[in-house]
Amino acid sequence: MKYKDLIKQMTLEEKASLMSGQNFWNTKAIERHGIPSIMLTDGPHGLRKQGGKADHLGLNKSLPATCYPTAATLANSWDKSLVYNVGQDIGKEARSEKVSVLLGPGLNIKRNPLCGRNFEYFSEDPYLTGELASEMVKGIQSNGISACPKHYAVNSQEHMRMTIDEIVDERSLREIYLTGFEKVVKESKPYTMMSSYNKVNGEFANENQHLANDILYSEWGFDGVVVTDWGGNNDRIAGLKAHNQLEMPSTNGITDKEIVDAINKGKLDESILDKAVDQLLSLLYKVRLDDKESGQVDYEDHHNKAVEAARQSMVMLKNEKNILPLKAGTKVAVIGDFAKNPRYQGAGSSLINPYKLSNPFDGLQKSSLKIAGYAQGFKRMGGKSSTLLEEATSLAKSAEVVLLFIGLDESKEAEGVDREDLKLAQNQLELVESLVKVNENIVVVLSGGGAIELPFADRVQGMIHTYLSGQGGGEAIVDVLLGKYNPSGKLSETFPIHYTDVPSSAYYPGHQATSEHKEGLFIGYRYFETANVPVRYPFGYGLSYTTFDYSDMVIDGLTVSFNLTNTGEVAGAEVAQLYIEKVDSKIIRSKKELKAFDKVYLEPGETKQVTLTLTKRDFSYYNPEKDWEVESGTYKILVGSSIQEIHLEETLEMEGVAPTVFLKTEFPNYAVANVKQIPNSEFEKIVGRKLPPKNWDRHKDLGMNDTINQAQYKNWLGKLLYHSIMFFHFFFKKIGKPLTANNVYFVINMPFRQIDRFSGGKVSKKNVERLLRWINR
Ligand code: BGC
Repeated sequence: MKYKDLIKQMTLEEKASLMSGQNFWNTKAIERHGIPSIMLTDGPHGLRKQGGKADHLGLNKSLPATCYPTAATLANSWDKSLVYNVGQDIGKEARSEKVSVLLGPGLNIKRNPLCGRNFEYFSEDPYLTGELASEMVKGIQSNGISACPKHYAVNSQEHMRMTIDEIVDERSLREIYLTGFEKVVKESKPYTMMSSYNKVNGEFANENQHLANDILYSEWGFDGVVVTDWGGNNDRIAGLKAHNQLEMPSTNGITDKEIVDAINKGKLDESILDKAVDQLLSLLYKVRLDDKESGQVDYEDHHNKAVEAARQSMVMLKNEKNILPLKAGTKVAVIGDFAKNPRYQGAGSSLINPYKLSNPFDGLQKSSLKIAGYAQGFKRMGGKSSTLLEEATSLAKSAEVVLLFIGLDESKEAEGVDREDLKLAQNQLELVESLVKVNENIVVVLSGGGAIELPFADRVQGMIHTYLSGQGGGEAIVDVLLGKYNPSGKLSETFPIHYTDVPSSAYYPGHQATSEHKEGLFIGYRYFETANVPVRYPFGYGLSYTTFDYSDMVIDGLTVSFNLTNTGEVAGAEVAQLYIEKVDSKIIRSKKELKAFDKVYLEPGETKQVTLTLTKRDFSYYNPEKDWEVESGTYKILVGSSIQEIHLEETLEMEGVAPTVFLKTEFPNYAVANVKQIPNSEFEKIVGRKLPPKNWDRHKDLGMNDTINQAQYKNWLGKLLYHSIMFFHFFFKKIGKPLTANNVYFVINMPFRQIDRFSGGKVSKKNVERLLRWINR
């Protein structure tokens, strides 16, 4: 132990006191030992430092900061140095505000496109997620502060996020849900990690011995501090035993006392606490800022970098008859509320108060285009208005090209709630239908943090998805539309035609108590490619104003090289992607898997050689009985511009084992990725145990870990509690306040144990226990 001597001088109470926060955002200091307090603050795509009242749902304003594109957006850039730079800038802003731990990046896997926080996560693919999240961690930590990758692990949904038990088989856990975290830990050495609220295979993530002790600390060699998600502690002693050194926010000493009592009663070995204190002290002394220079931030420079990040992350989905880029002097009608009121970030704990905000309309007005006019077209949040629809339709008639700004509005994506569907609001769909009838040249500009159903895709000429492009998105989209910037973004997730095509659509968001990951490995493209299901836009897809040619592939050992040439007339960047495919695999396996990529910038006519290096691990699958192993035999090496556009193909022989597990012959449905209706027996076989009860036991007395939601099955008091909250939820929805409605809904899914924590001790644990006794009567 590094701080053995200091720890010896501390009382038991002092040591325990360090294991939880001082308040919402700070750790405790102990003056007599010179132990500093540090500040932790959100969030992934900018700094959310709250000067006044604190909360973890983005309710109270934070200090102005640069709002960069969210992770889902940045992921479309496939540009590691860009993501590093964004991390570096956010870290710089954090340091200048004396924030020692920045709570991000978020790198949960997009299991299902409905997850309300997907906009904060990178991809459906673990390799891409891990590569980009590692860069962000390195960038943040280059400022001498800590990044805090989150939420470890399998935080796949917002619905019931504090209690849901995510049931996932060990192979999918390793290959899909943990690979990104593993990469981050091994490649960028974060000083902290945030555990998630949910359970994983029966145990809360924060006290999960397997996730923390076996995997994170022992296998991967993590030597930092695990921080709970805010209010994510369940059993403090179990958490401590699973390496949760810091519980946030403050518990007003309640759980510190639990630690002291457990040691006094012989239920917890003091050496476990000492070790945790040692790890925490190592963090505090490494990232304290109270004794250091803060550094200056040039916010104008950061704004320009936010514009650049947005440009690189936009994905051109359609460009029929080269309608884009728009020529100078083109008469355009600008339609859609998003043109003037951009949607550029998501709601919840990641909500940034932007230092400055650009909007597309201002940029278009200053451009070389002739603006025929602007029409709002629709009301935000789905409100009906035939006047707006008619105004827009009549404006569209007068222009050569319609620039139509639509997207998911604020209520559709937020922390704490999942999306209900993948659709745009009905009033926006009606607007599109009306416009396509009167103008043949429609260019749709989409905003939103993820996949959207696009039923009109074949009836419009151009389409660009800006995702949630941060405070500089307005400037960036104008540059892309006018060809001042050649789009180079590629989708980091699959766009299904219909939500029902999604492999987990039948299982998501699960039952009352469990969410069964029956689709196993087959999420996103792993399913669509293997099961041969058509999609709207495939993984890795995105158009450019130029064209690229791939040639001369050579494989030398595990190094793959090829030439990439810009065959068009303008400069541009291409994301070359490498997938592997096992020929005649004997085991359950995705047809293609992304294993390497590079983004290459080329002048017209220029050729560059691209070299990508693979490792043995890239060919491996996880065998829970042993370890990572390679199936012997032939592998295809596929290089292309998306998972469906493969331009070069070679084979490679690998030596390994003849697999004895996950044999296709033993799992008939998984063998062919027929995963939408997996029978319980096949899932139990792959999970290796009987499935736990999926629903709540309505007759059981409610305890601290049960939710207010469950009170609806109890006596009149429970029903009253539940229905009053639901009443407010519907009320706020009805009066057009969906964000407030979301926050009310959040309360419904809160476990009772959280009431005393979130009321800052105003409602004591004793009172919550009393309430429970009444409800259970
Ligand atoms: C979120 C975390 C966030 C924390 C602090 C939680 O509700 O899940 O991502 O960092 O609040 O705001």
